[in-house]
Amino acid sequence: MDFSNKNVLITGASRGIGKATAQAFAEKGAKVGLNYRSNEQAAQMTLMELAGEGHHLLRQDISEKTGPQELITNFVDHFGSLDILVNNAGISIFHDIEEVDFDHWTNAWVDTFKTNLFAVSNLCYWGAKAMMETGGGKIVNVSSRGAFRGEPTKPAYGASKAALNSMSQSLAKKLAKHHIHIGVVAPGFTETEMAAETLTPVERDHLLRESPFQRMAQPKEVAHAILFLASEGAGYSSGTIIDVNGASYLRS
Ligand SMILES: NC(=O)c1ccc[n+]([C@@H]2O[C@H](COP(=O)([O-])OP(=O)(O)OC[C@H]3O[C@@H](n4cnc5c(N)ncnc54)[C@H](OP(=O)(O)O)[C@@H]3O)[C@@H](O)[C@H]2O)c1
Repeated sequence: MDFSNKNVLITGASRGIGKATAQAFAEKGAKVGLNYRSNEQAAQMTLMELAGEGHHLLRQDISEKTGPQELITNFVDHFGSLDILVNNAGISIFHDIEEVDFDHWTNAWVDTFKTNLFAVSNLCYWGAKAMMETGGGKIVNVSSRGAFRGEPTKPAYGASKAALNSMSQSLAKKLAKHHIHIGVVAPGFTETEMAAETLTPVERDHLLRESPFQRMAQPKEVAHAILFLASEGAGYSSGTIIDVNGASYLRS
């Protein structure tokens, strides 16, 4: 896969899956705009580690109403055009119905949907407008296994990702005539730096046993699927959802 001369915007690119995706695109010749919310130090580190040159940091909270439009405008002002948009940034909030009070419950739904669905729908809106100006582009949205399998202690997260899948498929149909392709990657538990630091040994053991490979996904493996959907040859895969979950959950 060759992404020379491609301008790629990745949300939530300061760490985890977004960082691995930025590294993978940069290694294949792309110029990458790295969006992050607040962790300046992590974002600067990621920028410094990227192969090639011409990459750029874009600090923006995408959950704010004007955030997505400002982010796309700033990206296009800097790079000249938007070829590939990877909507990776997402949050998950614990809100077990047996344990939390109503305020916690309802706030978790609002906050989760603000970032995982409304921000992405607005980024698709402004991103697609920018791509229409230049004859097309690729959008890859990062979903989750939880959209299919359920998230008992984080139901808003599972619901937001299921809605994201549905929205992506609707837009894949609508935007085809503009040569805009939309794909989705649905990872299972992925071993990011943060996951490695926060899991207890028992939790880790449980997660390892979910997959017959007896391991979690690596961020690089999720990035690989994202690059495939963004590649030139994958246009007819628009509307596809690629699972990256080590056969831990098989849907029909
Ligand atoms: N890790 C997993 O096991 C897993 C499994 C399935 C799906 N996923 C999905 O994969 C995606 C990435 O997950 P991850 O674990 O790699 O994430 P992560 O390590 O928690 O990193 C999140 C990134 O998103 C940014 N971010 C969060 N809220 C933002 C906002 N409102 N505006 C702009 N940036 C924001 C963060 O920036 P700051 O650091 O500056 O706040 C950071 O760069 C998410 O959509 C997640 O749902 C992850």
